[in-house]
Amino acid sequence: MTPLRAALVGVGRIADMHYLGYSATPMAELTAICDIDPDLLSRRAAEWNVEKTYTNFDDLLSDPDVDAVDIITPHYLHAPMTIAALEAGKHVTVQKPMALTIAEADAMIKAAERAGRLLRVIDNYRFHPPFVRAKQILESGGIGEPMSIRIKTASGTAPDGWEIPQSSHVWRSDPTLSGDGSVLFDHGHHVWTIARYLLGDIERVFAYIGRTEVVKHHEIVPGGILDNPGMIVWKYADRDLYGTCESVHSEELIVRSTHYPIDASFEITGSRGILYVHKSPNGQLVQRPPIEILRDGSITSISNVDTDYAAGFRLAIEDFVHAIADGRASALTGEEGREILRFSLAMVRSGREGREVVVADER
Ligand SMILES: NC(=O)c1ccc[n+]([C@@H]2O[C@H](COP(=O)([O-])OP(=O)(O)OC[C@H]3O[C@@H](n4cnc5c(N)ncnc54)[C@H](O)[C@@H]3O)[C@@H](O)[C@H]2O)c1
Repeated sequence: MTPLRAALVGVGRIADMHYLGYSATPMAELTAICDIDPDLLSRRAAEWNVEKTYTNFDDLLSDPDVDAVDIITPHYLHAPMTIAALEAGKHVTVQKPMALTIAEADAMIKAAERAGRLLRVIDNYRFHPPFVRAKQILESGGIGEPMSIRIKTASGTAPDGWEIPQSSHVWRSDPTLSGDGSVLFDHGHHVWTIARYLLGDIERVFAYIGRTEVVKHHEIVPGGILDNPGMIVWKYADRDLYGTCESVHSEELIVRSTHYPIDASFEITGSRGILYVHKSPNGQLVQRPPIEILRDGSITSISNVDTDYAAGFRLAIEDFVHAIADGRASALTGEEGREILRFSLAMVRSGREGREVVVADER
């Protein structure tokens, strides 16, 4: 089979992980890269040994040697770039959140249908092996009937963490370019992806969302506003099943990480036991086994699971490449990405208006 010829668009911070994903997949090759920053582009081309570089996205789209584009640009560019790429006949994988509004997400999905090309949203948490194992445990009845999910996220400072480019701080600090909140809207996408992946559709949400002025944050410039602390409560569809997420940020909190300083832990209580996932892809506050199951009064630890940050990206990219080859959908279709965005927007509205919001009303 001829490998899929892919191009990365936006070769900033997280592109490192996408590059590793394509390098590990024999069914794909990285044919071209595109970025408006010419210095960064030539550094990446040399580092990754990529011959074709573009500073203009339209020129990349005219390249007949590119089958698929992987859009890793700031959020406000996701919708226009995705639609243009689909109209140029390329398959598209776009970083989360897929768009800033439901109208944009609708237009992206329609463009994929018109073009007959694959559109999917990449969220590495969805492929992170501990969550995939947790899903298998739930589906095999490992804790009985799920009754609640409790999530806690804490972000802080990672002394050995990634450096974030200054240009990234700028777009992330402007809600018109990045959306309403760096923590619950942006990073929250991962959390809501897992809340839906593990337990299904969500019907209603109520959110308390604080505003904290940033002194130092890994992605927002000082003086910017963080959508934190937060306490989010939701109800799943058609069942008496509820979730909560407590989200806190403090620069004085040390989170062990070689990437982002964010810890997230998940606890699902079922009728016969409790499932804990302690290892999300980013950092970790306390070293614990990735998965623990409490059942019949005793705890079983599961450690034979890949917890590497890169694994979720590699598996997500493999799934995209195989989906195109097999003519099937890839996990996190445009439609699923839109439902996660709908939840995020409903949560933001709830926090702003101080009332419960029906997720389906977010249009
Ligand atoms: N899955 C994850 O864990 C994760 C982590 C970080 C970021 N992300 C997502 O990835 C995306 C990028 O984030 P980042 O942290 O790498 O940002 P970044 O600012 O480091 O990189 C963005 C890149 O896009 C380039 N760019 C801007 N406008 C462009 C244009 N018109 N044409 C081509 N290139 C352009 C910039 O020059 C920059 O190099 C965002 O959607 C973000 O939410 C996901």
